[in-house]
Amino acid sequence: MGELTGRTALVTGASRGIGRAIALRLAAEGALVAVHHGGNEEAAKETVARIEAEGGRAFAVRARFGEDGALDRLFEGLTTGLTAYGAEGLDILVNNAGILSGNPIAAVTPAEFERLWAVNVSTPFFVIQRALPLLNDGGRIVNTGSTASRFAVSTQIAYTVSKAALESMAPSLANELGRRGITVNTVAPGAVRTDMTAGHTAIPEVVAGLEAITALGRLGEPEDVAEVVGFLAGPRGRWVTGQTIDVSGGTWLGPIVPA
Ligand SMILES: NC(=O)c1ccc[n+]([C@@H]2O[C@H](COP(=O)([O-])OP(=O)(O)OC[C@H]3O[C@@H](n4cnc5c(N)ncnc54)[C@H](OP(=O)(O)O)[C@@H]3O)[C@@H](O)[C@H]2O)c1
Repeated sequence: MGELTGRTALVTGASRGIGRAIALRLAAEGALVAVHHGGNEEAAKETVARIEAEGGRAFAVRARFGEDGALDRLFEGLTTGLTAYGAEGLDILVNNAGILSGNPIAAVTPAEFERLWAVNVSTPFFVIQRALPLLNDGGRIVNTGSTASRFAVSTQIAYTVSKAALESMAPSLANELGRRGITVNTVAPGAVRTDMTAGHTAIPEVVAGLEAITALGRLGEPEDVAEVVGFLAGPRGRWVTGQTIDVSGGTWLGPIVPA
């Protein structure tokens, strides 16, 4: 039996990348996982199939964040799926779905900013609000932030602002929900090899530049982040709340001086 046997989890953006790795990690520990996606049905099905092939339990839920009615569809799909498995309530909520914008301030349009805000900030905020009545005592909320809010990335300023806003939710929520044994944390990955970063990681000079500012000397993989979420979501993470956990292999800690 895994440490999450009997638990239920919703992972947003679990069809691909970091979210898929988180879904696989939680399911490997025994959780029944709702694999949310924004429309890439095939990728979500693959996540579910991989979980089932490893003996786990999962179902897919579609909701395109930023569209009217998305949260209704998310929670309808979640409750239908949980009921089909005879499960009740939610133990783990991972707000992972997110989008990037790669523009300096002069090029960011109001529409682009509003979309980032809708998907990266408003959606997780109201997903948490809607999840609270379902969330069992002793539950876990983990939001996916970014190191982009820790150091300057002028070509991602709107993304940075959205992730800083997301990260700001954890301390207040941790205080509000702590007496119920619910923890709320943010994981802040550095550069991770996913579809989101594929354009950058295809350029050797960009990869070399990122490796040069990372203490552990490489880019992250989705599983590097999933391990930390697995810890926070499980019983061993019970005494950590209200925190942002940097999961970047030590990116931009300061100058790396050759020995
Ligand atoms: N990769 C990195 O280097 C990095 C670094 C720091 C933080 N992060 C954060 O980590 C999270 C995951 O990133 P990733 O790199 O794994 O991204 P990814 O590979 O691009 O996957 C994005 C996931 O989010 C879903 N999604 C995107 N837009 C959506 C929308 N409007 N409505 C609903 N779902 C939507 C996608 O669903 P579909 O498959 O259906 O499109 C997919 O499951 C994001 O919050 C990102 O900001 C990533």
